[in-house]
Amino acid sequence: MRLEEKIKKLIDGQAFASITRHVRSLFHRLFFPSPIKPKRIIASIEGHNRFHEICDRYGMEDPGEGPPKFLNLKRWIRRNAKRVRELRLDDQKRQRVLDLGCGPGYFLYICRCLGHDVLGIDIDEVPMYGELTQLLEVPRVIWRIEPFVPLPDLGQFDVITSFLTCFNEPIGPGLWGIAEWDFFLEDIRRHVLPNGRLWFELNRQSDGQPYSPALKRFFESRGARIDLYRVMFTSDRVARSSA
Ligand SMILES: C[S@@+](CC[C@H](N)C(=O)[O-])C[C@H]1O[C@@H](n2cnc3c(N)ncnc32)[C@H](O)[C@@H]1O
Repeated sequence: MRLEEKIKKLIDGQAFASITRHVRSLFHRLFFPSPIKPKRIIASIEGHNRFHEICDRYGMEDPGEGPPKFLNLKRWIRRNAKRVRELRLDDQKRQRVLDLGCGPGYFLYICRCLGHDVLGIDIDEVPMYGELTQLLEVPRVIWRIEPFVPLPDLGQFDVITSFLTCFNEPIGPGLWGIAEWDFFLEDIRRHVLPNGRLWFELNRQSDGQPYSPALKRFFESRGARIDLYRVMFTSDRVARSSA
């Protein structure tokens, strides 16, 4: 994390919540080691010839920030294992998990290995994602999330996630604003089971921030817990504010 962000965290008072979260997680891990073994997960993917064919077809020496970066399993399986642990999906009974913009499907693959019931939503613009999700047997619905358009009827979920969220970046008039998020959150409520959770990890924008101050205030008014780029809701708090 950059020094600037650390200072900002201190200034806006998020430091305490963040430290508490990390300490709690550390203690939890000390007494309840995670069943996720990234090396084994990586081996289970590398064991497929098809994975190597995909690497031959799409891999490049320096993929930069393009989709082939996801072929670096060491980096992305570790990162997704961390996501699963942070959501405590490694020590919970079977959950229904929906991931919006699931990309290569690693997060859902780990969830599935843990016994959860998983589904991804994605557009079908990057053939490599289709091939990887197929290889990993991660079920995926092809659907473009658009402003002011309800999500398809896919049932209800205990956990709805979106990592490195891109659906709020339509080509055209810029990022989603408050009206778009308000519609989206109002709609998504019907897909969250009682005691369910929403967990978004927003991308940094050109100014280095994941959201404008107004959007942050809006998320908070809807009951979000915010930790830097993470915006998290529980099912009872995603409701439209009474104001
Ligand atoms: C940067 S990738 C992140 C992949 C994955 N979530 C991860 O973090 O490993 C963004 C994903 O969002 C998907 N995406 C972009 N715009 C979308 C939209 N409007 N609706 C659904 N998915 C979208 C892309 O196809 C891609 O899979």
